[in-house]
Amino acid sequence: MEKILYQLKKRTEKINLPSNLGFGQIFTDHVFEMDYDGEKGWINPTIKPLESLSLHPATMFIHYGQAVFEGLKAFRTKDENVVIFRPEKHLQRLNNSSKRLCIPEIDVDFVLSALKELVWLDREWIPTKKGESLYIRPFIFGSDPVLGVRPSASYKLIILLSPVGAYYPEGFKPVKILATDEYVRAVRKGIGECKTPGNYAASLYASEFARRQGFTQVLWMDGVEQKYIEEVGTMNIFIRFKNEIATPKLTGGILPGITRDSVIQILRDWEMKITERLIPMDEVISEYKKGNVLGVFGTGTAAIISEVGLLKYKDMEMKFDSKQSNDLALKLFDKLTSIHYGLSEDKYNWLTHVTKKEVAIA
Ligand SMILES: Cc1ncc(COP(=O)(O)O)c(C=O)c1O
Repeated sequence: MEKILYQLKKRTEKINLPSNLGFGQIFTDHVFEMDYDGEKGWINPTIKPLESLSLHPATMFIHYGQAVFEGLKAFRTKDENVVIFRPEKHLQRLNNSSKRLCIPEIDVDFVLSALKELVWLDREWIPTKKGESLYIRPFIFGSDPVLGVRPSASYKLIILLSPVGAYYPEGFKPVKILATDEYVRAVRKGIGECKTPGNYAASLYASEFARRQGFTQVLWMDGVEQKYIEEVGTMNIFIRFKNEIATPKLTGGILPGITRDSVIQILRDWEMKITERLIPMDEVISEYKKGNVLGVFGTGTAAIISEVGLLKYKDMEMKFDSKQSNDLALKLFDKLTSIHYGLSEDKYNWLTHVTKKEVAIA
């Protein structure tokens, strides 16, 4: 791979972050960019000032959605170290999504080293308050300016950085979820397990429908029978039954969440019974009626762990507000965030440290 080219922005004024960062509204000074040429492969790796793109209106991904993306986070630890949570897993998942979308794969080691350089360069943008972080958005799109439906021959990869606030500024807040069998997000053997724009476009109509009724997100059912629960909005879901914690198994319609994987490892370590299996909605309802569902929570990079306070399906309203159910979700949230901020030992080796020594600049 070629050496990374640097075009650095001259910053004169001090970075002044607002007290309420929101999500994905503020961007740092620089991006990493790289192009794919059908003959030469990935070329022109460059760290450069953030600027708007100029695209031909026929650019392929705009019409046919041939694009993939990732979402991961960098944190500033209590000792002022800069760390990224499981970046190699996210870049491998980017490659898995790419394969399904006929997008050429990236060299994970090379892109990870470029990402570390970018994060180090813009490290002053990493917010410091608890719950805040630097959201990292790598994405790749087909860039041929051609209207025919086929895989693009050229692509662009960009990594964008955005300082983000705590997902719930008021703290750890239970969310209201509406389960629907009227719309589906994805089907097995389709592209549900890929992080690609089409899945998010497919989710908007039902999400807006749920939002208008006061729900935070939609719980999707499987795309074939609408019988099994799959995932919630941008989170994987866990049901805490009396004798088991269950999460839907990865059948192809669900994004294999990296927070999901982390939570499974932690629960195993805590010697709790955790199973990945098909979970029929009928079972959740009948077990709830028997008092055997102690809680429900979602997992994802944005909110980390999100407790479900209300789950509605048709006329059935399942409420979870017992102290018992709160405990596990909160314990998991504390465990993961304490790893992020260097407050507890990183025994799983999930943190990639970004230090001056490892980068060629600054
Ligand atoms: C559809 C969907 N499911 C689940 C997740 C959770 O995945 P992760 O824990 O890797 O952020 C996300 C977020 O990336 C998502 O967009």
